[in-house]
Amino acid sequence: VPLQSSNTFGIVAKALSLARIRSEADIAAVLQDPAWRAAPKFILGGGSNIVLTGDVKPLVLKVEIMGKRLAGETAKAWIVEAGAGENWHELVTWTLQNGFPGLENLALIPGTVGASPVQNIGAYGVELQDRFDSLDAVDLTTGQPFTLNAAQCAFGYRDSVFKHASSGAAGFGLAGKALITRVRFLLPKTWKPVLGYADIEKKMLLRKVDVPDALQIYEWICEIRRAKLPDPKIIGNAGSFFKNPTVSPEQCEDIIQRDPKIVHYQLADGSVKLAAGWLIDACGWKGKSIGNAGVYDKQALVLVNRGGAANPVTGGEVMTLAKAIQTSVYERFGLRLEPEPVVV
Ligand code: EPU
Repeated sequence: VPLQSSNTFGIVAKALSLARIRSEADIAAVLQDPAWRAAPKFILGGGSNIVLTGDVKPLVLKVEIMGKRLAGETAKAWIVEAGAGENWHELVTWTLQNGFPGLENLALIPGTVGASPVQNIGAYGVELQDRFDSLDAVDLTTGQPFTLNAAQCAFGYRDSVFKHASSGAAGFGLAGKALITRVRFLLPKTWKPVLGYADIEKKMLLRKVDVPDALQIYEWICEIRRAKLPDPKIIGNAGSFFKNPTVSPEQCEDIIQRDPKIVHYQLADGSVKLAAGWLIDACGWKGKSIGNAGVYDKQALVLVNRGGAANPVTGGEVMTLAKAIQTSVYERFGLRLEPEPVVV
């Protein structure tokens, strides 16, 4: 099965076998089939956070579980539930149209609902974990369904239990072991805007709005993202390619001595987050290419497919460019950038 249209980089690769998962029953069918029961499996959502470096040999489970509904409420919050196969941005739009604001800062993030907890998606001051209630998943070894709350998901910056192998250092992890079927979001009944990001404050000044409503924020976020992030339908990409590194205040001071203009943010725990896009930009990478893999000219943190659909970038070219960027950032700043997408 060709995967070129199932990954937002537009990389050409095949799945040697693929099963569409539209319900829990479809998972049960796969696990009851002697040919597939014990086979290694790879879970595919919107394909917006992966780099395919070759054909995918594990059985690909393409998640297409749909549905969006108000699933309940507490005294303080609405609980909205969505199927893992729902498009993330469509869910955000639906919640706003139906009077459940709270996800507006996460508008226009590519990918599916099921992928959103895996990397704890975040943008403009809101992370998925801030609006998360619980999720349902199925254990791919036993076929048993289970539910996880936020603590059990072990959310971190672009991280969760679903990004770690069970044999990993932490001694736990569900990567490849469980398939997320449904996610529930906790959306406060007393809505408060999350502002404070420079890009949003610029919009408030420009539009002369003191207290924006959720729909205004949604529209501004869409405008901001369209202005600096490439639309994967037009230029293939997987969003931010590296995580923003965190350093100690001493390390940051040291870098500021050499590069006074470095973009950095103080974190609550005392450490300092550096803008990886700035570091890459400072190394002169913006707009550069290796083969058909390029560094986006409006946001150096995003690697793009410059060959389009006709002559697409390969996963190898993307990884070669990524390594070259890591080397120059390390040589200049002594920092190791960590890739954000999953390399398959
Ligand atoms: N910058 C540069 N040059 C560049 C790119 C950025 O100097 O080429 C500077 C900007 O001027 C700005 C700073 O770096 O001062 C930060 O840039 P930006 O606000 O665009 O955010 P980011 O840190 O690059 C992160 C997330 C994005 C998210 C935005 C907005 C990560 C890895 N990325 O990007 O998430 O949309 O903040 O909140 O944390 C994603 O994960 O795929 C993603 C797009």
